[in-house]
Amino acid sequence: MVTTDTEKQNAARTSLAYIKEGMVVGLGSGSTSEHMVNFLGERVQQGLRISGVPSSEKIASLAHSLGIPLTTLEKVQELDIYIDGADEVDEGRNMIKGGGGALLREKILAYNAKKKIIIVDSSKQVKKLGGFKLPIEVIPFAHKVVMAQLHQMNLNPVLREKENSPYTTDEGNHIIDVDIMAFENYSDLNELLLSIPGVVETGLFLGYVDLLIVGIKNETKIYGNHTKMG
Ligand code: A5P
Repeated sequence: MVTTDTEKQNAARTSLAYIKEGMVVGLGSGSTSEHMVNFLGERVQQGLRISGVPSSEKIASLAHSLGIPLTTLEKVQELDIYIDGADEVDEGRNMIKGGGGALLREKILAYNAKKKIIIVDSSKQVKKLGGFKLPIEVIPFAHKVVMAQLHQMNLNPVLREKENSPYTTDEGNHIIDVDIMAFENYSDLNELLLSIPGVVETGLFLGYVDLLIVGIKNETKIYGNHTKMG
């Protein structure tokens, strides 16, 4: 039987073909990205020269342990390629990300990358976003008032917790997960959420996919702009 994890590994392995010598590579977070970083580590150990910009402390420590040279957005302002997973992708390639809490750094890296590749298992493909709750990153100072505002918008907000305390991101913020199933216009929703003072970023990634690589059973399907990939 082909497991979800095998699909993730297959998608991750396929994405490696787009990483070329000398590239600055944005490293996403989450279990699918971890597979990609493990495969990339093997290539680096075989002699591939690249540098990585990690989207979380967790992926930074994995990459470091595999000998992948790391750099920062202070040293390089543009990434050649960014590779990451997703929690949901719809037919228009709109995504929900941030299940692992790294959405802010992920969006910054993806925005500043020339090419963006998303790697997912088949369960992530959906007709309509919203089965997965949308993560919203908020500054701790404002989290109560933002929660109240999100309640008023009928978004059923839940403050994410870890060990009975509010979950804290690598940037020292909190995450509120909301239900967006009733919404169709994601761009308007995103603007509305970002207009609330205290909201730092949302996990709605609109227009962030050049290539979508999906592991489906023992195959991988690739959708998107192949020519942009060079
Ligand atoms: C991390 O914050 C997320 O955006 C991940 O990319 C997303 O949750 C996908 O994770 P998995 O690859 O573990 O499913």
